[in-house]
Amino acid sequence: MHNKSRVSRRRVLQMAGVGAVAAAFPFARPAISQGAPLRVGLLLPYSGTFAALGTGITNAMDLYVKQQGGKLAGRTIEWIKVDDESAPPKATELTSKLVQGEKVDVLIGTVHSGVAMAMAKIAREAGLPTLIPNAGANVLTRAQCAKNIFRTSFGNSQPGVAAGLAMIKAGIKTAVTYSWGYAAGEESVAGFKQSFLAGGGKIIKELTLPFPNVEFQAGLAEIASLKPEAVYSFYAGGGALKYMQDYAAAGLKNSVQLWGPGFLTDGVESKVGAAGDGVKTASHYVESLDNAENKKFRADYNAAFKMFPDVYAVQGWDTTMLLDIGLKAAGGDVKKQDAMFKAMREAKFNSPRGPFRLSAAQNPIHNFYLRELKGGENKFLGIAAADVSDPTTGCSLA
Ligand code: BEZ
Repeated sequence: MHNKSRVSRRRVLQMAGVGAVAAAFPFARPAISQGAPLRVGLLLPYSGTFAALGTGITNAMDLYVKQQGGKLAGRTIEWIKVDDESAPPKATELTSKLVQGEKVDVLIGTVHSGVAMAMAKIAREAGLPTLIPNAGANVLTRAQCAKNIFRTSFGNSQPGVAAGLAMIKAGIKTAVTYSWGYAAGEESVAGFKQSFLAGGGKIIKELTLPFPNVEFQAGLAEIASLKPEAVYSFYAGGGALKYMQDYAAAGLKNSVQLWGPGFLTDGVESKVGAAGDGVKTASHYVESLDNAENKKFRADYNAAFKMFPDVYAVQGWDTTMLLDIGLKAAGGDVKKQDAMFKAMREAKFNSPRGPFRLSAAQNPIHNFYLRELKGGENKFLGIAAADVSDPTTGCSLA
C-alpha cells in the first residue's frame, strides 16, 4: 500500500559547500505558481543517537501525504531532507541551506532543542511557515514565540511537570536527577522539580552528562551510594536504550525506581528487554490509547513500515495534519499567511494522542499519560495530568 505517492523528489542534501550557497541567496523568494510542487524542507536527524526519532517523524509525514494522494491542498509535496545530526554547531548553516539555498516554502524541524533554537532564529527572520515536530525548548513558545512558528510536540517542561505530579501521588519523597545537560534535559528536570518540590518531595542531588555522552557508570555509582527512592532522567533514542541497560546492570533496577518523560522508553521499548521492565514515564502518547485515530494510525503505519509507531511518529502525523489544515485555509498558497496561520492557530483535531489544540503561544495543549514499561510495551496506568498547557511567559502573541 501507499506506493502511489506523487512525492517527486527525495534526497538528503550534502553539507559540502553549504556556506557558499547560503551566502549567494537572499531571503527574498520568487513568486510561487500555485500548481508547482510545495517544497517542504525537513531539518531532522537521520544519523546519530536521535536518528530513529527523525525517521519516525519522516515516515509518518510521508504516510499522511501518501494517504492524500501525494498532495496537500492541491499541491504536490516535495520533501527536501537535510540530516542535522543533532549537532547545534551545524544548525545555522544547514537551516540556511534549506531556507536561502533551496528556497523551501515550508520548514519542518527538528528533534534536538539546541538545533531548533538556531533554526528558529532564521525561520523567524525569514517569516517562513515553520512547524516543530519534536524539539521542546521552552523559549520557542515562550519569549521567542513567533506567529510563523508552530510546535506540534510538547514544551520540555510539560512531561517533567506531569511526572513530578505522578511521583508525588505514588508516595515518593526523595529523588536524584540524572540527565543530559543541554536545554531538553535541563528544562525537563526543571519541570519535574517544579511539581515534585511543590508536592513536598526532596531532590538529593542533580547529576548531568554532556549530550550525547553515554558513559553513565560514574553517575550510576553515585546514585547507588546516595540511595534515593527514585531517579528522574531525561535521555532519548539510542542513549536512553543504553541508559536503561546500564541502570539495570548497575544493580539499581530493583532498589531505586526509574522515572522520566516518555522519551526514556519511546522507540526503544521493544529493544530494551527485561532491563526496562518497571520504568515509569509520563508522556502525551501511549500505544494502547483507545481512540479511532490511534487504532487506524497504528494499523496503517504498521502496514506501511512493518513496525508500530511511537510518539515521534505521532508528532510527525500531527505536524502534517496541522500543515494540511493551514494549506487548505490558504487554498494551497503559503503566501496567504493570515489565512494559513489563523487556521493553524485555531485548529482542533483528534490526534492518535487524544484531543489536540494549540495555546496562544502555538504549543500543544494535550493530556499526559502515566505509563509503565512491561514486556516491551508502555502500559497505560492512568492520566498523569489532563489538558496540560505550557506557560506562555514572555510570548507577545499570547
Ligand atoms: C529535545 O532536544 O528537545 C528532545 C530530544 C529528544 C526527545 C525529546 C526532546
